[in-house]
Amino acid sequence: MRHEQIEKSIGLMGVLTAIAISIGGLAEIVPLMRSTEAVEPAPGVTPYSAVQLEGRDIYIREGCHVCHSQMIRPFRAETERYGHFTLAGETVYDRPFLFGSKRTGPDLARVGGRYSDEWQRVHLVNPRDVVPESNMPGFPWLTERTVDAKLTPVKMQRLRMLGVPYSDEDIAGAEAAVAGVTEMDALIAYLQGLGTAVKGR
Ligand code: HEC
Repeated sequence: MRHEQIEKSIGLMGVLTAIAISIGGLAEIVPLMRSTEAVEPAPGVTPYSAVQLEGRDIYIREGCHVCHSQMIRPFRAETERYGHFTLAGETVYDRPFLFGSKRTGPDLARVGGRYSDEWQRVHLVNPRDVVPESNMPGFPWLTERTVDAKLTPVKMQRLRMLGVPYSDEDIAGAEAAVAGVTEMDALIAYLQGLGTAVKGR
C-alpha cells in the first residue's frame, strides 16, 4: 500500500508532513493578513489618554498582567462571567498587548466601570479590606508616588510612530495632563477604561 511506503520512508514522510502543516498554517495566517479587523480599531475604541497610558505602564511595572489576563474567550462560561468576548479591534492600541495566559485573579478585559474608583483604591491598597478571602498583594506605595510627567509626551510620540493616532495637541498637553497625578490615580484611570467601548454589545 502507498500509505505504508510513506510511513516507512522517513524522508518522504518528513516532506509530506511539512506540506500538510504549511497548508494548515497558511489557511490560518493568510486571511488574517488580508483582514482589516485585526488592525483597525473597533467602533468606539480610542487611544489611551495620557493619564491612562501612564496607568498602563504602572500595571506592567507592578506585574498585574502576571496574575490577570485581558482576553475574554468566546465561550459561554467566559462571556457570562466577564461580558462580550474580546475583539481584535479592541486591542489595536495595546503595545505590548496584555492578553496574558495566567488567571490567578479574574480577567480584567472589561473591568472598567464594574467598581467605583474608591473601591479600586481601597482594593489596591489592601485587597482584604473589600475581598476578605483575596490573595492578591496590596500596592500601597502607589498612593505616595506621582507619575513622571516628563516622559509621557515622549511615549506618545513613539506610539504615534507605530501608528497610534495621537494629535499634536494630545502630545503637547500630555505633560500638563499627567503632572501631579499619583500612580494610584493613573492606574485606576486605566482600569476604569478597560473594555468600556464595547461593553454594550
Ligand atoms: C499574585 C496575583 C495577583 C497580582 C500580582 C495582582 N492581582 Fe489583582 N487579583 C488577584 C486575585 C486572586 C483577585 C480576586 C480576589 C480579589 O478580588 O481581590 C484579584 C482581583 C482583582 C480585581 C477585581 C476584579 C474583579 O472583577 O472582581 C482587580 C481590579 C485587580 N485584581 C487589579 C489588579 C491590579 C491593577 C494589579 C497590579 C497592580 C493586580 N490586580 C495584581 C490576584 C492578583
